[in-house]
Amino acid sequence: MRHFISTRELSAASIYRILSTAEEMRKHPALLSENYIAANLFFEPSTRTKMSFQIAEKKLGMESLDFQMEKSSMAKGESLYDTARTYEAIGADMLIVRHTCAHWYDELIDRTSIPVINAGAGTGEHPTQSMLDLLTIYQEFGTFEDLNVVIAGDIKHSRVARSNVYALVTLGANVYFAAAPGFEDDSLGIPYVSIDEACDMCDVLMLLRVQHERHTSASFHSFSYLANHGLTMEREQRMQRHAIVMHPAPVNRGVEIDTRLVECERSRIFKQMQNGVYTRMAIISILLNEWGVEHDNFAEKYQTIITRQ
Ligand code: NCD
Repeated sequence: MRHFISTRELSAASIYRILSTAEEMRKHPALLSENYIAANLFFEPSTRTKMSFQIAEKKLGMESLDFQMEKSSMAKGESLYDTARTYEAIGADMLIVRHTCAHWYDELIDRTSIPVINAGAGTGEHPTQSMLDLLTIYQEFGTFEDLNVVIAGDIKHSRVARSNVYALVTLGANVYFAAAPGFEDDSLGIPYVSIDEACDMCDVLMLLRVQHERHTSASFHSFSYLANHGLTMEREQRMQRHAIVMHPAPVNRGVEIDTRLVECERSRIFKQMQNGVYTRMAIISILLNEWGVEHDNFAEKYQTIITRQ
């Protein structure tokens, strides 16, 4: 693993390696052997992902370089490539990038001499979110095989859905979509169920935010969305006892989910955020290790802890 860009090519073994390292980071946090420097280049707004990368870096003993697009030379027209190469030239050991373009990394991969992590690529992928989601599911069920996972919401515009589909299918889960008309994406070959069927049969209900900022028409009605496609109080009652509710957040309260359910017993929404820190610590340390920069081999030390059931 040279960069962490997509879940598409990740093997089950690489995913379990990340999860086990993350579990170990959670239980026994450890500093890296040197003060490496991470450049966090966020070209799109972010609270959770950006802050949890910063906290992950801090817990590993790294320095974080922040970046504000509007105050940077991007405002003078500098490209992503030149910005990234600048951070590399001044001493960054790793680039963590979020960008509106679904394939921003094509400009960088094989053109940098430091690892690159995808922290969100337009409507493309969000692989670190997927890993923290998987860790949350694993902590709950101890396996992925034959779990019924329904991803419900604005599939069409969701990078979270895409990254999770690739990884969950690799791990042997039964993945379904539930989506309002216009929010479907048939390119992924995933079967659809209604939100009512989803609530009856799922082990995991993964809700997605309505991505208003990526919509081209303004025909969305939040009032009827909850009733027709969201998690209402009635639907939550129909879920199996053990089933959990997830959401990558930010949550549109009262749209994807009744506001009273955001912190209900089944909700793992804040747990997901916590897991984001450990998962990102794991990904950073594994990459530094793979590049031969970090010699304390976290990955090897921890890789046997979580294995395929
Ligand atoms: C997601 C994102 O940015 O893609 N949020 C996140 O990273 N926690 C989901 C979203 O914005 O809806």
